Amino acid sequence: MIEFWKEHSQHATVEEMMLDSNAQQLTKHELPEILEILPSLDGIKVLELGAGIGRYTKHLMGKARHVTAVDFMEKFLKKNKEENSHLGNAEFIQADVTQLEFPENSFDLIFSNWLLMYLSDEELCSLTEKMLSWLHPNGYLFFRESCFHQSGDSKRDFNPTHYRSPAQYNHLITSVIWSESAEKGKQSYGFDTVLSRNVQTYIKMKKNQNQVCWLMQKTCRDSVQQHQLGFNTFQQFLDNQQYSRRGILKYEKMFGSGYVSTGGPITTKEFVDLMNLSSGQKVLDVGSGIGGGDFYMAKTFGVEVLGIDLSSNMVEIAMERAVTENLPSSWLKPGGKVLITDYCCGEKPWTPAFQTYVNQRGYILYTPQRYGKILEAAGFTNVGAEDRTAQFISVIKAELKRAEEIKKEFIQEFSQEDFDGIVNGWTEKLQRCEAGDQRWGLFYATKD
Ligand SMILES: C[S@@+](CC[C@H](N)C(=O)[O-])C[C@H]1O[C@@H](n2cnc3c(N)ncnc32)[C@H](O)[C@@H]1O
Repeated sequence: MIEFWKEHSQHATVEEMMLDSNAQQLTKHELPEILEILPSLDGIKVLELGAGIGRYTKHLMGKARHVTAVDFMEKFLKKNKEENSHLGNAEFIQADVTQLEFPENSFDLIFSNWLLMYLSDEELCSLTEKMLSWLHPNGYLFFRESCFHQSGDSKRDFNPTHYRSPAQYNHLITSVIWSESAEKGKQSYGFDTVLSRNVQTYIKMKKNQNQVCWLMQKTCRDSVQQHQLGFNTFQQFLDNQQYSRRGILKYEKMFGSGYVSTGGPITTKEFVDLMNLSSGQKVLDVGSGIGGGDFYMAKTFGVEVLGIDLSSNMVEIAMERAVTENLPSSWLKPGGKVLITDYCCGEKPWTPAFQTYVNQRGYILYTPQRYGKILEAAGFTNVGAEDRTAQFISVIKAELKRAEEIKKEFIQEFSQEDFDGIVNGWTEKLQRCEAGDQRWGLFYATKD
């Protein structure tokens, strides 16, 4: 794994940290989202694992009493130190997290953003046991991972990352138990899930549901308090018994695609319709199952739905389905407006010259009328679609006239060949319009 990070730590940049060319924008949006999920940092001691150049270190230091930031890449840690050590409340350790040791009960929160996916299952279980020992009882573990597949667009010649499913993380981490030494009472501890959810920034900006984060808490594993059939938590009981993946799919077969509740889509439609939902509202679905009702609400009423469920198998299936559901995602606020001008075309058949032009430019053109229909089908209302070809022609004529006026200046700045090229290009535009092939459209619409 160290070889992978040697290759991706040449410049110690945000792009390397996120392995994505759009890292600047992504980090701007995901930072506040992730920080919001954390418990209060006031006065606490934080251990940050895989801290990198310190995207998060800075913010953790801003609120916590002390932060211990660990990373195995020298260049990353150096940059982190340069940018943040002046704040005074952090220690920076260059180490492989699999080799780390700390005294028991040293931290209140362990934070890691994209680290566990770089560890093998054995390393992950061993680190989980150590993290249980390093945390105070009731202390928190936050981690965020890429699930199922790669998310960033940076090129990777080799990629040893483990793209686990959320259920694999749930299982691996919640099944580890750590027991105190005999003199301290030999109490056993494990991690319980406080919440697990997908990172909304990646859904909104990349239509990617596969970034998942967890907040877990170190809790007593009392052998007397074991749940049904010896499972450590009720969640494990559900995931292994009634709501095993196979069990859920059997229920779905009975209730209808996307549903694990009585009446499936029919009762959901009847009951949800009673609520008179309207676009832009937010819905919390408690016990959301595999998400059929949530997808119905989001698609039919344009509401934003947060589904929560204790069963990690349910949530995992819902996340898989959400990827293929083609859910509405929108940058516009309700009432927002769009205005578009675009090249359009006339009805086919086109002249061969126009077909060649379209092919050569790689354009996909629609008639103004069809363009408007596409906006309507996307859910916009008050759609206006105007054919502005006459205006296009008069603008081109005016521009050609102006070209003659500035001809000398143009040729001086560019060349005769450039001038001729422009004039020919504009003249051809006119010819394409006059043949009825090329059109110009103006479109406006509202999001309800
Ligand atoms: C994708 S980056 C994320 C960095 C930072 N958490 C962030 O979100 O900006 C993963 C980081 O984990 C570090 N890392 C991976 N495996 C590690 C290990 N075994 N021990 C220490 N650091 C590790 C890498 O050097 C890198 O800085």
